Amino acid sequence: EKGGFDHFMLKEIFEQPTTIFDCLRGRLDASAGTIRMSGVDDNLDMLTNARRIIMVACGTSWHAGLVAEYVFEELCRIPVEVEYASEFRYRNPVIQTGDVIIAISQSGETADTLVAIDKAKEQGAFIFGVVNVVGSSIARVSHAGAHTHAGPEIGVASTKAFTAQLAVLYMIALKLGYAKGTIGMERYTHLINELHMVPEKVATVLESSSRIKELAEKYKDSTDFLYLGRGFNFPVALEGALKLKEISYIHAEGYPAAEMKHGPIALVEETLPVVFVATKDAYHEKLVSNAQEIKARRGKVVAVITEDDPVFTEIADDTMSVPAADELIAPMLGVIPLQLLAYYIGLAKGLDVDKPRNLAKSVTVE
Ligand code: F6R
Repeated sequence: EKGGFDHFMLKEIFEQPTTIFDCLRGRLDASAGTIRMSGVDDNLDMLTNARRIIMVACGTSWHAGLVAEYVFEELCRIPVEVEYASEFRYRNPVIQTGDVIIAISQSGETADTLVAIDKAKEQGAFIFGVVNVVGSSIARVSHAGAHTHAGPEIGVASTKAFTAQLAVLYMIALKLGYAKGTIGMERYTHLINELHMVPEKVATVLESSSRIKELAEKYKDSTDFLYLGRGFNFPVALEGALKLKEISYIHAEGYPAAEMKHGPIALVEETLPVVFVATKDAYHEKLVSNAQEIKARRGKVVAVITEDDPVFTEIADDTMSVPAADELIAPMLGVIPLQLLAYYIGLAKGLDVDKPRNLAKSVTVE
């Protein structure tokens, strides 16, 4: 049942070219330049006229919501908030007509997310579910939705569900942006093509797994890690840190790279690996100088880079490369080496990567 892999987590990481393809299939047609999603098409007025979109989720799904915040604001020019479901449900949030809630959940059973959307629904919000498990509670409570079609996720750490959530959220943002006219035909078509190429590019990243296994051996005894990224890659830094904590029990923190100076830089010393999510985008030069600041303090720089990046290769102690992609789409690629790094470090430490201590696959109690 693990398909020849040692663990479900590894199997699910390696399934991603297929699961992302399955998620796009029947929806995104690159040759026609179209995206069809009935949950969006049937509610297009409601969605394009949204005053505000609120992403509600927990954990890794919350990180997908955070990527989506950057993407929706960029493509659709709709203000977006991203809420931890547990905070949102308890604080008497202001909900107004015209608010659209996007609930993101792999299991569709996370108690906090479910109660949060129930309450928002009572107050008149429109609920759109991005859920993996068909027929789950969150899917049933939502007014409309789009399933992620990633198949059953057994490993406790979420991997393939995350990239499928991103694929769905990108497609929704593209549809709304194009319908609203906040992006033109050219950018719409370009990003459709970029999404279409993701499964193949993810497969390329997976080919470098043995290199990442070596890095895992090298860094497995570190007691702390810092993960840094900016812009679309900031949430990827958070997700990389979460994966490492869950699977290897190593303390890890994710930060927006520029926040480093406001505190975390005090942690930097020779024994601290700092993982930069540094694929080529508008922030690249800024990340280069952030990495130089780490090196100047003798920290170790490990970087996820776009292949053929001589500048970062020169600064970094170690690199993991991914194929070039549009900066909006890059999080789907950049997260893959970080999933693998967490897996191989957990493995090198002899831990139960599929069932990390204290964690449950779906959190149905608050
Ligand atoms: C992280 C992880 C958790 C879940 C979170 C939400 O690897 O698995 O953080 O992402 O519990 O679960 P869902 O998406 O089922 O609502």
